[in-house]
Amino acid sequence: MKTVLVTGGAGYIGSHTVLQLLEQNFSVVVLDNLVNASAESLRRVENITGKSVTFVQGDIRDTTVLDSVFSKHSIDAVIHFAGLKAVGESVEKPLEYYENNVYGTLTLCKAMRQHGVKNLVFSSSATVYGDPVSLPLHEKMATGQPTNPYGMSKLMVEHMLTDLHKSDDSWNIVLLRYFNPVGAHHSGQIGEDPNGIPNNLMPYISQVATGKLAQLSVFGDDYDTPDGTGVRDYIHVVDLANGHLKALDRLALNMGLDVYNLGTGQGYSVLEMIKAFEDASGQTINYKIAPRRSGDVAACYADPTLAAKELNWNAVKTLEDMCKDVWHWQSNNPMGYNG
Ligand code: NAD
Ligand code: WQD
Repeated sequence: MKTVLVTGGAGYIGSHTVLQLLEQNFSVVVLDNLVNASAESLRRVENITGKSVTFVQGDIRDTTVLDSVFSKHSIDAVIHFAGLKAVGESVEKPLEYYENNVYGTLTLCKAMRQHGVKNLVFSSSATVYGDPVSLPLHEKMATGQPTNPYGMSKLMVEHMLTDLHKSDDSWNIVLLRYFNPVGAHHSGQIGEDPNGIPNNLMPYISQVATGKLAQLSVFGDDYDTPDGTGVRDYIHVVDLANGHLKALDRLALNMGLDVYNLGTGQGYSVLEMIKAFEDASGQTINYKIAPRRSGDVAACYADPTLAAKELNWNAVKTLEDMCKDVWHWQSNNPMGYNG
């Protein structure tokens, strides 16, 4: 694998992955419509690495753009991050989510097939397990019933790609089920820059820490967990990005279709996250206990042993690393990339 097309490469996880690809001397083409990102992320990646990225501003649903990208560049593999990801918004706008995430992936795969590019890494999510029947979650467990159109779109794409591989086993596909990505590159130059009020815990905490937001609501303290608050498997985005490079190695072995959890195997509660962030940042997080958020599960964490065995991948960063790196990014860039 020499040249990689990264869809959604200007986004949060994409930019961290592009950085590592450049560090490992891959040629990288990014296709991103910037609906939830800024090209500034890629400029900073170029600064950090001293290497350049080919950036195409365009949409994965646009067959003309796809045709031009695959014609101009000799792509060996595609890492496909592009998509919409806000759970609440997906309930309001299901058609936009299915169109972007399902039809977008379908259009991308048709262009790949047409150009004979059959190596694909797909960003899936632990949300495809639905409400966990037992923990930790491992890949052999049946997928569940995602509670929102976003999660359903990920499950639908997993099924579509599985059928695609069944129909033509010259495809090599790795489905990566991410748990809860947090953190930022240690340079403090790239990180998560959500539009508007964050939906996710970590960016919310960090914006309370900078004073941009007044108070965190802890959604429920009566779950069946050690302290009553929700437990999740937070994974440092740099570890997560590294999993994609390992997935490229796997594609090169022509193994067909594989599914891997990318998580640490360790769950932390909301109150533990607040405490860890306070320790790492020296800031006090103003919070209150609020009612449960609809659709939330009590606890969710990975069994990451399959990725360790077959991808030779492990998460190595600690909770302290995650909090320190988020604080470094957020305190340097309180307004994100537009500051
Ligand atoms: P992100 O929003 O930062 O990145 C997605 C990128 O895709 C953005 O840069 C956006 O501009 C681009 N994009 C969206 N629709 C597009 C389209 N139609 N054509 C071209 N570009 C388009 O999100 P992220 O957190 O980096 O997530 C990356 C992927 O990982 C997504 O598919 C997401 O669903 C998945 N994922 C994320 C999480 C998480 O918590 N962050 C967890 C599990 C899975
Ligand atoms: C974590 C914990 C909340 C915000 C979501 C998507 C999932 C995946 C990752 C993409 C929970 C609590 C949160 C707040 C809080 N995304 N919380 N106050 O819900 O595990 O996963 O992002 O694939 O599909 O559902 O992550 O960060 O929103 O919440 O108390 O303001 O923090 O209740 O226990 P979640 P999260």
